[in-house]
Amino acid sequence: MIDQSEFRRVIGHFATGVTIVTTCREDGSAAGLTMSAVSSVSLDPTLVLVCVDRGSETLPFLERAGYFAVNVLEEGKGETLARRFAGGGAEEKFRGVAWRPERTGAPVLDEALAWMDCRVTSAVPAGDHIIFVGEVLAADAREGTPLLYYRGGFGRFAS
Ligand SMILES: Cc1cc2nc3c(=O)[nH]c(=O)nc-3n(C[C@H](O)[C@H](O)[C@H](O)COP(=O)(O)O)c2cc1C
Repeated sequence: MIDQSEFRRVIGHFATGVTIVTTCREDGSAAGLTMSAVSSVSLDPTLVLVCVDRGSETLPFLERAGYFAVNVLEEGKGETLARRFAGGGAEEKFRGVAWRPERTGAPVLDEALAWMDCRVTSAVPAGDHIIFVGEVLAADAREGTPLLYYRGGFGRFAS
């Protein structure tokens, strides 16, 4: 096993996009968090995975709802959203953020560069995270420049 800070430093060299993974509380209100541990899994059927920290306040809602949406963020406004959804304060997060429920009921943000609406097909414990595998039931994307995350900082493609 290697040191945790060394693991963080090394894995930080793997550049990723940035998403907000959303779901609903029992009362129908939106919950969500900023996530980069998102991956494509399978084409047949269409599956993605998201790795949620056991300490996440969104986790129990995701488990109960059984669905989630992956909202891919754009550079610019997306960075503000990413910072907000990585902080505490569930009500603060969605203030002034426009969204609609998609096919499963999961919140899709108007600001999303791309989105996938998913039904949870399995939840696998993995260390201090839970891996949720979701079947993608609906999805779309538009033109734009994605927000990137690399070595603990936000960035964008140079053009
Ligand atoms: C760029 C970035 C990527 C992140 N990726 C993840 C992730 O993949 N999984 C995770 O559980 N938390 C991730 N986080 C941390 C959560 O966004 C953060 O802990 C958040 O406060 C959790 O909110 P919640 O407790 O309301 O669910 C990430 C944070 C940032 C800034």
